[in-house]
Amino acid sequence: MESLRSRLYDLLPDSEQVVFTMKGAVTSLLAASAGLAIASPPSEVPYYGRSPPVYPSPIGNGTSNEKWATAYSHARSLVSQMSVEERVNITRGWTGTCVGNSGEVPRLGVPALCFSDAPDGVRGQEFVSAFPAGIHVAATWDKDLMYRYGRALGEEFYGKGINVALGPVAGPLGRIARGGRNWEGLSNDPYLAGAGMGAITKGIQDAGVIATPKHWLLNEQEFRRRESSLGEAVSANVDDRTLHELYVFPFMDALREGAGSVMCSYQRANQSYGCQNSKLLNGILKTELAFEGFVVSDWGAQHSGVASANAGLDLVMPDGGFWGNNLTQAVNNGSVSEDRLSDMATRILASWYYLHQPNTFPPPAVCPNTQKHFAVDVQDDHAALIEEIGAAGTVLVKNVNNTLPFKKPKFLCVYGYDATLKASPWANPARYGGGYEVNAGWNTLNGTMITGGGSGGSSPPYVVSPFQAIQERITKDRGILRWDFFSENPGTPYVNAEACLVFINAYGSESFDRPSLQDGFSDRLVNNVAAMCSNTIVVVHSTGIRTVDAWIDHPNVTAVVFGGLPGQESGHSLVSVLYGNVNPSGRLPYTVAKQESDYGALLNSSVSLDWFPDDDFSEGLYIDYRAFDKNGIEPRFEFGFGLSYTAFNFSSLSVTKDTASNLAELPDPKVAIVQGGHPQLWDIVAVVSCTVSNSGKLDGTEVAQLYIGIPGDDTPVRQLRGFSRVGPLAPGQARKAVFELTRRDLSVWDVTAQQWRLRRGEYKIYVGASSRDLRLDGTLTI
Ligand code: NOJ
Repeated sequence: MESLRSRLYDLLPDSEQVVFTMKGAVTSLLAASAGLAIASPPSEVPYYGRSPPVYPSPIGNGTSNEKWATAYSHARSLVSQMSVEERVNITRGWTGTCVGNSGEVPRLGVPALCFSDAPDGVRGQEFVSAFPAGIHVAATWDKDLMYRYGRALGEEFYGKGINVALGPVAGPLGRIARGGRNWEGLSNDPYLAGAGMGAITKGIQDAGVIATPKHWLLNEQEFRRRESSLGEAVSANVDDRTLHELYVFPFMDALREGAGSVMCSYQRANQSYGCQNSKLLNGILKTELAFEGFVVSDWGAQHSGVASANAGLDLVMPDGGFWGNNLTQAVNNGSVSEDRLSDMATRILASWYYLHQPNTFPPPAVCPNTQKHFAVDVQDDHAALIEEIGAAGTVLVKNVNNTLPFKKPKFLCVYGYDATLKASPWANPARYGGGYEVNAGWNTLNGTMITGGGSGGSSPPYVVSPFQAIQERITKDRGILRWDFFSENPGTPYVNAEACLVFINAYGSESFDRPSLQDGFSDRLVNNVAAMCSNTIVVVHSTGIRTVDAWIDHPNVTAVVFGGLPGQESGHSLVSVLYGNVNPSGRLPYTVAKQESDYGALLNSSVSLDWFPDDDFSEGLYIDYRAFDKNGIEPRFEFGFGLSYTAFNFSSLSVTKDTASNLAELPDPKVAIVQGGHPQLWDIVAVVSCTVSNSGKLDGTEVAQLYIGIPGDDTPVRQLRGFSRVGPLAPGQARKAVFELTRRDLSVWDVTAQQWRLRRGEYKIYVGASSRDLRLDGTLTI
């Protein structure tokens, strides 16, 4: 059977349809031999499990706006002077000092472009900052901070001479609760993720660096994300409507802000590999969303030569892949048209011009850590922003009897491996400080966690641990500390201690999905401390969801903080929240369930051992809070939840429809599509507002959240479609929160019309403090 499999595989051409048919053939053969019946994929749902061919690849034309038009005219004139070999050379990667380097054409002054990770800071370099991870930024629910984050990141990439930053991330979106890379992205809600994708992309590009939203598309799990000895990569099988409303949605915001590059993903999508999927690349990205820039492969994600070129891949990384000289041959024999080759080269250079990089861009200052070099310091004053975002994304979820903020305690105890830099005798301090595998050390062995593992991990210049910052702070009050970072059961209570802080974490990384959303050691540690200390405060640093039911209701657990992945200023950010210098306004960007099984089929990645493994997204639109709402499951802490040291009132809801807008059901088909989609999708068609007032005793900031219920029984009861971080407000102070709803925000993807469509009828409008704490409601009729 094995040899039959590999013979069949050898025969596989690159076309999606054939892969699908062959998959069926292999499965049938294997199953028939085992006497098993075969389940067929649901056929009534368009595209479910099939990726329709979309050819030819659209030629980029720069018609989105003036800026793209100018960039295209420069790029075209340069490309017209290039030989086939020169054009081929810039569509491939070469070994160099960056994680990716494109080919150069010195004769025409085209340099090798430098590509670098990560989405939360320049990876593996010295004198760069470690910013909070994407999921932490999302927890701020603050578009201004999101923009400033992108801008500061972009400045660091720029200073290091990196032309292309490999981020931000909306794939994974976070469909799977245990997904290993969810923390690199923003939120499993497409609207919140989209707000971040747009703002961060704009920030990076305003600093002169090409942003690369990734991974396009459906890279929702790590298990079998790539081909291996087990067989082909997993296929994410999703229907057309879900594809658009959940997974494409946040990328639209990044494209709308002018993203110059997009990275295609490792896994298969509807049976066709991400980097040769003509529906995703030629169809959705380059036609429907009129992408003007270039598609770069994830590293080693190319699976074919001619097919990937014709399906819309423009640049292969990190080497020649299936192209190199073969692409020259393919163009010479007509398998790939010369126009397609010119389009690839033009798209790459158009993005380079679009960001004004020719002539002015600093030379690459990226060096292997093993080489002595003059290191360019790009940190600037970003530490202050990092501390601010670190605090703003910290989420307080339990606070009994105003345990927090601290009132100048004189005696605190600190417990747990996550409180400090080096927790155990087995930790290797030399591994602390940047690089790909190095970041895999930010876990229970190596101490406090500020980022996750793999290529998305940042490279901190230093780390302010929680213990360091608490120590700095308590000594100002001439207080004392006792600590034990190591024991599972710290034992003897210190009777004079005013509070015990327990630090635990939940690690996640590229390359594998999380085995669990909790761990026994940490849960026992919390319970053991709580057993001896009547004022136990738990701080969780996590790469996403962390279940807490093993101890959340313990009467001695008086406060709980989700500290996220805060970056290098971790301790300072936390202490400012603990002591009330910052009143917490972070809100959960995901649902924390009471038990892991509440996530149902979306707890784990698909673990099929088939040669062609499938992952059917049969839940459709119902992930995270959409699923909890649909199935009537009460979460422990709902999406959007977070406490404050003060209280807020919501009042005066107003809903107005923009009567000037053309609310015909479909956008006008005569209007040309520009990058990001049909321009009318971004028209504001309704405005909702309300008043938020501080009814408590302390200054504080509230995140007002707008949820809508789209008419019809095939839509989630509530979906986030607006948020506004209001404050800081003094006690008694009030301010208006305004939510502008675009046509896209109110539309569903109509699979027949292949367009976003408003629904006639009554839209439900809810405004509140979380997805379940809804304070005001109204309607909007279209
Ligand atoms: C593979 C990862 O999936 C991608 O996100 C990263 O940018 C590249 N490796 C380069 O390190």
